[in-house]
Amino acid sequence: MDLFTAIKERQSCRQFKGGTVSRDDLEAIVEAARLAPSAVNGQPWMFHVVDEDPLKSLVAKALTQSFNRQASAFIVVEMLPTKLPARVLGAVKKQPYAAIDIGIACAHLALAATAKGYASCLIGWFKEGTLKDVLGIPKTSRIHIVLSIGHAMHDTVREKKRKPFEKIARFVNKDDVK
Ligand SMILES: Cc1cc2nc3c(=O)[nH]c(=O)nc-3n(C[C@H](O)[C@H](O)[C@H](O)COP(=O)(O)O)c2cc1C
Repeated sequence: MDLFTAIKERQSCRQFKGGTVSRDDLEAIVEAARLAPSAVNGQPWMFHVVDEDPLKSLVAKALTQSFNRQASAFIVVEMLPTKLPARVLGAVKKQPYAAIDIGIACAHLALAATAKGYASCLIGWFKEGTLKDVLGIPKTSRIHIVLSIGHAMHDTVREKKRKPFEKIARFVNKDDVK
């Protein structure tokens, strides 16, 4: 699938219908995130792929919203404690580079899931402590996001509700800058 088609077709699925996602496809989806860029190539992530019970049910429960119970797999994205070069750069520049890196990697995950024909939802609402306990993730790490993946109950691509282009971007001429 062409990138722009994947961007248009990716949407948050909140009605999964069960079924499985093959390990090959899950690997390909994580591979897309593995290749994502990151500040000073720090790669501050670990992707925990969960596609089997009992862990799958425990993860679904920690995700709070009940639609996740019908998802086929989850990718829990652990943000590792930042390594020295990225930490120094982030401190000097006052930029949350690791969180930015995680966001980019998650975009790769979600778009790759769409390109492979799966429905997905990025989830930021979950019990972080429970997820860490369930998956044995150290307390020093953060989990900001989980991707639920599966098969959509309805295939229709919804119209995107977004601000119009002219409200979110401008071509800047030097005369516009005071
Ligand atoms: C960081 C982040 C956290 C999100 N958390 C949730 C969530 O916990 N539950 C949920 O149903 N959707 C969640 N979403 C999905 C957004 O609500 C959704 O992307 C947005 O409304 C646009 O809709 P679309 O994804 O269908 O284009 C999250 C998205 C992002 C990027």
